[in-house]
Amino acid sequence: MTQVLRLAIVDPKDTTRDALKSLLLGMDRIWLEAEASRYEFFADVVSQTHPDVGVISLDADPDKGLDLVSQLHKTSPECSILVVSSSSDGSLILRAMRAGAKEFLTHPIKLEDLLTALDRITTLRFGKGTGKSRGCTTIAVAGSTGGVGTTSLAVNLGCALAADEKNTVVLVDLDMCLGDADVFLDAIPEYTVLDLAQNVTRLDFALLKRSLTKHSSGLFLLPRPVHLEDIPQITEDDMQRVFGLLKATFTHMIIDLSKSYSRLDMLAMQVSDHVLLVTQLDLPCLRNVVRLNTSLNEHSAIKDKVKIVVNRVGLESGQITLKKAQETLGKEIFSQLPNDYRTMSEVRNNGVPLVEQAPRAAITQAVLKLAAELCDDPELAGNADKGGKGKWFGLWSSKTKA
Ligand SMILES: Nc1ncnc2c1ncn2[C@@H]1O[C@H](COP(=O)(O)OP(=O)(O)OP(=O)(O)O)[C@@H](O)[C@H]1O
Ligand SMILES: [Mg+2]
Repeated sequence: MTQVLRLAIVDPKDTTRDALKSLLLGMDRIWLEAEASRYEFFADVVSQTHPDVGVISLDADPDKGLDLVSQLHKTSPECSILVVSSSSDGSLILRAMRAGAKEFLTHPIKLEDLLTALDRITTLRFGKGTGKSRGCTTIAVAGSTGGVGTTSLAVNLGCALAADEKNTVVLVDLDMCLGDADVFLDAIPEYTVLDLAQNVTRLDFALLKRSLTKHSSGLFLLPRPVHLEDIPQITEDDMQRVFGLLKATFTHMIIDLSKSYSRLDMLAMQVSDHVLLVTQLDLPCLRNVVRLNTSLNEHSAIKDKVKIVVNRVGLESGQITLKKAQETLGKEIFSQLPNDYRTMSEVRNNGVPLVEQAPRAAITQAVLKLAAELCDDPELAGNADKGGKGKWFGLWSSKTKA
């Protein structure tokens, strides 16, 4: 279960207190227990509410703030103190640490730094492995040619992972021109990746989640832009920030790439833990896999992540055998997904994911198994082995529909 940290904040300055609050609100792991605008009252607030973390902003009066750090350290030693200041002066940091602060953050607070600080505090308080791991497993799904099943896999992987209550999963449709993940999820999104990219520096967790479309499976979707002419406005820098924010918010991120291997696609592969290269067993596809592999091998941040997924195994016409394909590719085939056109068409046309439409189908089991391997989640694997009789399916049916 997610370890929730209870926080109390003191900051006499309304603007910075509000900014910090909105940064924290929306994080599943944070519960704002109390807030105060006067240093004088904060020690009492802490002794009455027993928060895990006391956040003390020094800017209004550094000396008073530091006195409060010392006082809290003595009177409420179980409360970890996190100090925030717009000064990064070394002597101030030293004084804060000597007074008993566990962490020191400077304004404007970077999400990454805040999360690292909270992770350290969680580990300190609850021990290793009990806190929610901040790591977000990120999976980019690429294709060796059009129509190989990239989106089908990305959407169904996302829904399979989202069905487990302990996961929060987002799917990013990076097929900027022709992406159709929204169709697979039967969603009419209000916002797109363009809105997020343009506002990313102003976003906080709560606003971010409101900007995404939530599917009944629990999967959050960030769709492609509506208008083609908007696409060039989305820069790599923007996208890097969007990915950063999503990674900080979700336990899993799936990215459905375009087939153009654009700069944004390359960036997505760089920020991912796994790059699935989906192919079918015909000559044009396999030839592209060889070419793509050669190119991706040139990128140190990508090459070790590439995993070949053969889709539609068992399709009769023009198929090369798996053995022959493996020889041609000179690379292990990581996963095989069986051909099941009827089920896959139903899934797409009805906007209902595999796990719901056909939980016992071989294709669903293969997707679950792949999810389990990629995310190193034996529970998912166990459920796949049980042919859908595991806890996972119970969870699915008990999930609240949005
Ligand atoms: N394992 C499968 N068995 C049978 N049909 C499949 C399978 N996977 C996908 N398909 C079908 O293949 C077609 C293309 O799938 P999908 O849209 O996911 O591919 P894509 O690679 O995302 O295509 P695009 O290049 O247009 O983005 C769909 O009709 C889908 O139902
Ligand atoms: Mg697609």
